Amino acid sequence: MRLDLPDLAAMTRLGEAIAAVLKPGDVVALSGGLGAGKTTLARAIIAALGHEGEIPSPSFAIIEIYDPPAVRLPLVHADFYRLKHPAEAEEIGLDDYRQGAALLAEWPEHAGGFAQESACLAIALEVEDDGRIAIVEAGADWLGRLPCP
Ligand SMILES: Nc1ncnc2c1ncn2[C@@H]1O[C@H](COP(=O)(O)OP(=O)(O)O)[C@@H](O)[C@H]1O
Ligand SMILES: [Mg+2]
Repeated sequence: MRLDLPDLAAMTRLGEAIAAVLKPGDVVALSGGLGAGKTTLARAIIAALGHEGEIPSPSFAIIEIYDPPAVRLPLVHADFYRLKHPAEAEEIGLDDYRQGAALLAEWPEHAGGFAQESACLAIALEVEDDGRIAIVEAGADWLGRLPCP
């Protein structure tokens, strides 16, 4: 599925649509180069889940955690760009952080990728003119609840 995301308002709407159906165990894998809009979409999802105020980019810390009641469900926002090897995702405790939580993953391929998980919604962002497009591939768990804003 291809989505046109011509401006930031479109990113916000897509984030809201994903947040509305997001469940523990889900992975939203956000791929695309630097500046593609991965953090922008992750922030839109986190805000739509109820978080108020600043949402730091996890590019330095690698993992940022959000817990209820500030958000509707436990959330892990990760940026795997700085991992040198996919095994490092395990070493930093990703599986523990993910227990009962949904995962928003930037640079998912640096963590070995998540497309093999049926609860993975893979979103590849690309620059197009002044906006973005998204190529969305949904795992079996997402069928019937695909976010189409
Ligand atoms: N759909 C969009 N249309 C126009 N600009 C966008 C869109 N999505 C994101 N941007 C802009 O792109 C820039 C980089 O976004 P960011 O989310 O930090 O990228 P990434 O995390 O992929 O490196 C930001 O200035 C953001 O405002
Ligand atoms: Mg980013």
